[in-house]
Amino acid sequence: MLNSDELKILWVSAELDPYSKVSGVGDVSRGLPKALYDSGIDIRIMVPRYKFINPEEHGFIRVFKGKFPFIQGEIIVWEGKLTNHDLTIYFVEHEIFKDEKKVCLDIEKTNVEKTGMKFLFLSRLSVETKKMVGWTPNIIHANDWHTATIPAFVKAFPPCKKNKVGTILTIHNLAYQGRIPVHLLEKIGLPHIYFGDLIENDTVKLLRIGIKWADKITTVSPTYAKEILYTDLGFGLQNDLIKRKNDLVGILNGIDTEEWDPETDENIPQNFSKKDLSGKQVCKRTLQKTYNLKQDPNMFTLGMIARISKQKGFDLLIEALPDLSKEKIQIVILGEGDQKIKEEIRNAANDYSDTLSVKFGYDFRLARIIYAGTDAFLIPSKFEPCGLTQMYAMRYGSIPIAHKTGGLADTVLDTGEFKTGFLFEKYDKDSFVNAIIEAYNVYSLNKEKWEHIVKVAMSQDHSWKRRVNEWKTLYNEILINIRKKEFEKISPEKTSNNDSIDIREFFK
Ligand code: GLC
Repeated sequence: MLNSDELKILWVSAELDPYSKVSGVGDVSRGLPKALYDSGIDIRIMVPRYKFINPEEHGFIRVFKGKFPFIQGEIIVWEGKLTNHDLTIYFVEHEIFKDEKKVCLDIEKTNVEKTGMKFLFLSRLSVETKKMVGWTPNIIHANDWHTATIPAFVKAFPPCKKNKVGTILTIHNLAYQGRIPVHLLEKIGLPHIYFGDLIENDTVKLLRIGIKWADKITTVSPTYAKEILYTDLGFGLQNDLIKRKNDLVGILNGIDTEEWDPETDENIPQNFSKKDLSGKQVCKRTLQKTYNLKQDPNMFTLGMIARISKQKGFDLLIEALPDLSKEKIQIVILGEGDQKIKEEIRNAANDYSDTLSVKFGYDFRLARIIYAGTDAFLIPSKFEPCGLTQMYAMRYGSIPIAHKTGGLADTVLDTGEFKTGFLFEKYDKDSFVNAIIEAYNVYSLNKEKWEHIVKVAMSQDHSWKRRVNEWKTLYNEILINIRKKEFEKISPEKTSNNDSIDIREFFK
């Protein structure tokens, strides 16, 4: 293995917690780089400076002002730090990001031309760090369709003359592929050979470019890595992925266990631990009050925090309400997203006001109170590449009741002594209700067993720290492969019969 200090990684994403988070990608963009940095890797982040991020308020420093031929107008780069941390973030400012009110995930719901150009521009700029900030990474890590063209840009416009730069594309959700009109790629100057064979009706899905050109492709859980290859969760890209099967890896996401700790969390009404759970009751009372629900410690209180979209299984929840309302069950929801689904949830909450209460929006503090104050947590997602909420919930002693798919299947255990949750296999109302009722019965009839499950769940270690070695190995593999190839090109005679040659020496 190469040393950590040889790795220089640029992480590029559309969102970053807490500056611009709209989905789990924002959490991952903070948590994983932070853990890698703490393990000794020089990793830096590049994200857009959206209009709503105020550089002065955050104390950013302007480190670049200039122009590039591939886009009109001035570019400014602000250097900031991850909150409470030393990791460097480059915020890219340009008029193209000026009218952004919130980060867009689903390009089809926006002005495709404008949004497409925004992220092509960000991706194109990521290969220009040398000119902008005097630092060149040896690996650029792209995330989702927004930055999926980076691997092609790296090949077309190499960021470093001396050594090749490697690339990784992490797919957080294959349902979003970033389809844009071809002429945008031409406008930003990506040579035709990088996308010519991917054109469908004058459009190209940006994610396909990344899948084709990245050195390695990762996705956010091992189960999802298999699902996207062999089921319709590949959303039409199964063949593209099968071609790259040997370079596709599923590495489970993690959570920041220092920031998410019920023993020290300042956002919850009373702290608690698996040794003393009494504070959890206080949190439950606050939560019931906040959501205008009956303040009764014996109610089985369930939480759901999710982006409001079809994927997240709100249809199952709404269908399940007539059954659930017959029991001492109450459900709180926090989320933002699709207007139509929000309307359906609002109506359901009116019809079953003793059972369901809802708040729409993003509320960082309330989210913590929900994890702390609920007995169990609902994640009926139709599919879930990884999911983070089940890990936050377990950490706060709220037991996941989840669809057995993707990362949910990889993080929640539903059998034996180390059971941490309740999984249902078939995606339908009855299976979902059965899982909830099974949990409800344990909760109300067998307190001892319930407490055991809570303690086991709270003992799980899903910290990013645990994932760092897997990432280091992968980054190293990329660098070693690149160096090997370079070496073979320069000295084919030396490599033909000699596997043990030390290529590091060669590149010093
Ligand atoms: C996306 C996925 C979610 C995953 C997150 C972070 O939001 O839908 O499953 O946990 O990205 O990788």
